Amino acid sequence: MPTLVIIGALWGDEAKGKLVDVLASDADYVVRYSGGNNAGHTVQAAGHTFKFHLIPSGVLHKNVTAVLGAGMVVCPKAFLDELETTKQKSPELGRILISSAAHVVFPYHRTLDALEEENRGEGKIGTTSRGIGPAYQDKVARVGIRMCEFVDPERFRARLCEVVEYKNRVLDMHGKPGISIEPIIEEYSAYADKLRPFVCDADFEVNRAIHAGKRVIFEGAQGAMLDLDLGTYPFVTSSHPTAGGACLVGLPPKKVDNVLGVCVAYTTRVGSGPFPTELSGEFADRLRIAGNEFGTSTGRPRRVGWLDLVALRHSCLMNGFTSLAVTRVDVLSGFGSIKACVGYKIGDEVTTEFPADTALLSRAEPQFETLEGWDGDLSACKSTNELPSGARGLIEFIERYTGVPVSLVSVGPNREETIVRDRGLLI
Ligand code: IMP
Repeated sequence: MPTLVIIGALWGDEAKGKLVDVLASDADYVVRYSGGNNAGHTVQAAGHTFKFHLIPSGVLHKNVTAVLGAGMVVCPKAFLDELETTKQKSPELGRILISSAAHVVFPYHRTLDALEEENRGEGKIGTTSRGIGPAYQDKVARVGIRMCEFVDPERFRARLCEVVEYKNRVLDMHGKPGISIEPIIEEYSAYADKLRPFVCDADFEVNRAIHAGKRVIFEGAQGAMLDLDLGTYPFVTSSHPTAGGACLVGLPPKKVDNVLGVCVAYTTRVGSGPFPTELSGEFADRLRIAGNEFGTSTGRPRRVGWLDLVALRHSCLMNGFTSLAVTRVDVLSGFGSIKACVGYKIGDEVTTEFPADTALLSRAEPQFETLEGWDGDLSACKSTNELPSGARGLIEFIERYTGVPVSLVSVGPNREETIVRDRGLLI
């Protein structure tokens, strides 16, 4: 199938990076379409661990054009650092393009991110402090600086002066020191010189490629439940990590062939916000360590909990997944029987519908089904039949509850530790 959108089905960190890397061997383009370096995608290949924050995970394949698309907010320094560390481990990369319509993240966005979190007090979102929210605020307020302006020295200076004058009025209101323009111009002009060769109307090229029948993967960042409109507002990111997000920046809806929703065999979340199946205490600590559940971008310990099928089914509905990938199935080995949430008790009522009201969700008591667990090392399993019956049972339970087939099962962090159940549902 020519186009595949891959997204995190719940709150992010579902190991999309590994799957994009695996599937990119069959792709011509891999396109990121939302977020910035708040994302963290880990790929283990050729004896190295790669951590991608901005560059699409398919870049390790020489045949792939990796696109930082419109819809993204790009920190130039983070991009250049990431490119450098990636090249040190893998000198031959695919072609990289940056959309001229992507927005640039500046130091003042990070300052404002910290300031806004401080002002939220108890209600803080637990952002990644990368300036993502403030960069998107500028975009929506129509004062953001786009890549096409950034790489044009005259326009960059003029736009930055305009924006900084406004930002300084805001900082002054908070009693904070203002921003000096010249140091930013000096540092960022050097970045602009290095970025210029990558910047083009990449979204147009991707669209032409789609129409020419090329195989294109759209790589979502974060997870669908962090979507600005469909997620657990206000504990969300500032963009659209849903399948529809890819359409907002140039994938024509009628050209979407497959949509892969990636979920972990349990659930994780970073930052604040309701998490009905969250676990605590020693069991949670053991699971966090077994799954190495520490943020790729920030190193923060991730919150962990049982698989939330109510949230997953909601995500299936919103994103129209044509199949699911279940990752980190190996991590649950040796944990005894496992649980999956099949309903929420809110007040006196039990519902299987995910409420849009975050206040209701925070009162939801999970109703669990207990499933058979399993032991042993799963990393060598090449088909579902080779999995222990408990792990097979979990996959089948997910399929029955959501009504969506599971096309991929990940049983370890390496490329090879992947069971492909139905290639026809992928790319
Ligand atoms: P922001 O995207 O930095 O504004 O953070 C908003 C919320 O999204 C916070 O709860 C973050 O922890 C969460 N978040 C942002 N990016 C990711 C990600 O890549 N994985 C998981 N959570 C994320």
